[in-house]
Amino acid sequence: MPDAADLDAADPLAGFRYEFFHDASEPNLIYLDGNSLGRMPRRAADLAADLVNDQWGGRLIRGWNEGWFDLPNRVGDRLAGLVGASAGEVMLADSTSVCLYKAAAAAVAARPGRTRIITDDLNFPSDVQVLRAVARAAGPDHEVVVLGSDGVHGPDELLADAIDDTTALVSLSHVAYRSGWCWDLDAVTALAHQAGALVLWDLCHSVGAVPIDLNAVGVDLAVGCTYKYLNGGPGSPAFLFVSSGLPDLVNPIDGWYGSDDPMAFEFDAERAPGVNRFMTGSPPVVSTALVEPGVDLLLEAGMDRVRDKSVALSERFITLVDARLVPLGFEVRSPRDHQRRGSHVSLFHPDAQAVGQALIHEESVIPDFRPPDLLRFGFAPLYTSFSDVDEAVSRTVRVVEGGGVDRWRGPVA
Ligand SMILES: Cc1ncc(COP(=O)(O)O)c(C=O)c1O
Repeated sequence: MPDAADLDAADPLAGFRYEFFHDASEPNLIYLDGNSLGRMPRRAADLAADLVNDQWGGRLIRGWNEGWFDLPNRVGDRLAGLVGASAGEVMLADSTSVCLYKAAAAAVAARPGRTRIITDDLNFPSDVQVLRAVARAAGPDHEVVVLGSDGVHGPDELLADAIDDTTALVSLSHVAYRSGWCWDLDAVTALAHQAGALVLWDLCHSVGAVPIDLNAVGVDLAVGCTYKYLNGGPGSPAFLFVSSGLPDLVNPIDGWYGSDDPMAFEFDAERAPGVNRFMTGSPPVVSTALVEPGVDLLLEAGMDRVRDKSVALSERFITLVDARLVPLGFEVRSPRDHQRRGSHVSLFHPDAQAVGQALIHEESVIPDFRPPDLLRFGFAPLYTSFSDVDEAVSRTVRVVEGGGVDRWRGPVA
């Protein structure tokens, strides 16, 4: 295995690490939770000061006509470059869950007579809850079919069997939040379309980590969050993609911002063109603006280079885990085929929570814990180095061999 320092020295993306804020009081911190909350781009701090002091503080209400109003589209158009969408097909708004509701309800309404929404048990709980709410609102004959998996790999064959002429919508997480399973976006989209169904992808765990080409594949609808690999900040707004080929889809939550002229204040306003008709209320200006720096960094880096590094980091991690952590009771619970894996790797350990706590509190390594027994290690290629990977594994060995599990077993304070 090549030396981590040599790989870091040859890494074309190494310089991006310095585009992110690193707290000088924690020089040894290894942050492997960018798949949950990305690091803060330095540019975001400068922009935040400008937004608060100069724009909000100084310009006050005039700010709406000086850029705030178009912000969800402007940032959406930038983000479109990361997911293979066109201008006017992506906007920022709401949370992923709310965007998912809007998109799923619109899709189901566009397939009258079809009563099933197909998903799987690797999907995020909020997604399944939202899809069930959509089915409930659509009527008593509608149902959500949750296909069972082995917990790691997507249920490929079940999916092919389940999609038929009763299917209104197939909605899946492109990369699954627990195992990191990555669906074949192209193949599943084609499968749904062959049966006359629409497809809605949740890109939360893939956007900014995996190259995505929504229009090349013919995807109908997609949603995603901006606080993970896009580094948009805690609770930053979600994004919604609606294909321009589906102009008849109707937003189930109309509101003034989805009309063609909110400032006309008319009850019977026409709907806005493009994805804007899916807006509802006022955009969160500050948090929407702060998404742009992280998106720009990824565009500068290029998604192919990001993906190459992501695969190299996670392959190295798995190799080290097999050699050093499997003998200590860990198991890899992510797909081993990198083509079917996103940018995080999940490890089973019977005392995963205690290991995670010990890593955080004793070794300055931040992974995350997903109950009952998984630790997720996320590799954000813009700021994670090959040395971080080696060091995280070494510290995990140290914490387990040093009795950290016993010290941190029990309720988390
Ligand atoms: C895959 C996935 N989908 C949906 C969500 C929910 O996102 P939000 O809280 O923005 O609705 C999350 C949150 O982490 C997620 O990981």
